Parts: sequence; structure tokens; C-alpha cells
Amino acid sequence: MSRDVVRVAAVGDLHCGKASQGVFQPLFTRMAERADVVVMCGDLTDYGLPEEARVLAREVSSVLKVPMVAVFGNHDYEAERHDEVKQILIDGGVTVLDGDSAEIHGIGFAGVKGFAGGFGERALQSWGEPILKRFVREAVDEALKLEGALARLRTPQRIALMHYSPIRATVESEAPEITPFLGSSRLEDPINRYPVFAVFHGHAHRGSPEGRTASGVPVYNVALPLLRRRWPDRSPFRLIEVPVPPPAAAAAPVGVHTGVGLGATVP
Ligand SMILES: [Fe+2]
Ligand SMILES: [Fe+2]
Repeated sequence: MSRDVVRVAAVGDLHCGKASQGVFQPLFTRMAERADVVVMCGDLTDYGLPEEARVLAREVSSVLKVPMVAVFGNHDYEAERHDEVKQILIDGGVTVLDGDSAEIHGIGFAGVKGFAGGFGERALQSWGEPILKRFVREAVDEALKLEGALARLRTPQRIALMHYSPIRATVESEAPEITPFLGSSRLEDPINRYPVFAVFHGHAHRGSPEGRTASGVPVYNVALPLLRRRWPDRSPFRLIEVPVPPPAAAAAPVGVHTGVGLGATVP
């Protein structure tokens, strides 16, 4: 079915545990009522355990009636059983992106975990000890994966989802000592090079809800603890409306960011 607008609801950092059965059903129900696509931005599980993933998969399958796309966060790797966790979630109906892209209702979704390293001129550089170079290499690799996923999409509108932040603005309220561990400017580069409508990320539980990249792309921090604290009387997810150009317009060359801006979102 073609639509003029696709509503995308996003949340991150559920940290689903073994005892979370039933905890997230009200949230997923509300998201499914209001959105056409649901996005989850990592730290889906608390320790990356298959038992936790099975709980989350049951939460999802019992209430979710709309497509769901997700990326992993650092917590999903803790037990080093991420391949099992991924398969359980895929079997539960979740599209898990790791340098991949997916097209849903005419909107393109590109997803990566991302990585740390800091922002701007103070970002960690690949220099000195081999272990430090490997650390920087992880951020570079994640940025390349994001670029590849964005490049493969041919949709007129693209959404980027990740766990770590691509900009400093949405981690601004965190303690300065941990800022370099909350994201990397290297993730921002491909977002500024490709026409991206909006970016969702999590990880910074005490960060700021929104900012923009250097080229003006809206960036939303959808970490659940942040949304709960900022809007305690609302369901903790972010909702944006993405206009889908009519077929004639969609055939035109892509490359223009037509974002409706921060004002078009419903926290
Ligand atoms: Fe988290
Ligand atoms: Fe995290």
C-alpha cells in the first residue's frame, strides 16, 4: 500500500533482562498503534544473553503488528553470544541491521552499531600503540559500514539508525569524562555525504534528546531512560513523520534533504 507519509517510532536501550516479561508490551503496543515502522537503537538486551533475547522476542511477537528494524548496542555483545541473540530476534520478526539496509513502505533504513572515539578536533586519532589503533579502526569500520548501507539504498528518503552518537550535541548533558565513549564524529561523515532524512541513536542515557549534523540532518537520541526522564507523562519513544514523494518526484535524482525538522516530531 502506498502512503504519503510514513510514521517511524524509535526507542533505544531497552536493556531487556531475564525478568522483563511483560515490561515492554505496553510500550510496543503504543508504538504499533501510532507508527508504521518501529526502530530500536541497540542495548536491546542487558547482557547479550540468549535468554534475554527470547524474552524480548516474545514481547515483540505478542504485540507488534508493524515492521521492526533494530541495531545492536554494546550490551548486546557482553556475553559474546551476539550471533545467537541476533538469530532469536530475527526469528521473532525483527530485522537486525549491521551494515545492512532495508526498505520499508518506500523508506530506506541503514543501520550499524557504531562505536566510540569522541567528537570533532578532539576525536581519538590512529597514532601510537597498536591497541589504540585497533580502537580507532573499529570506529572507522563502523562508519564505512554505514556509508555502504546508505549507498546501497535507492529510496528517496533514508533513515540512519545506530547505537552510538554521531554528534556531540546529543550527548552534551553527560559527564564530560565519558563523552568520548558515547560516540564518534566518524559516523557523522557519511550522514552528511548522503541524503539522510533523520538519524536515531541511543547509548547516552543521560544525554540530550536532539541535535543536528553539520549539514543539518536531525539527530534524535532515543535512549529509553532519557525519554522517560524528559517526558515522564508520555510513552517513551520518538515519533517522526517521513513524507514519501509521489512516484514522479521519487524518480527525480535524490540528494536533497527535505527534513520536516525537529518540530515535526512527537516525543
Ligand atoms: Fe544503554
Ligand atoms: Fe550502550
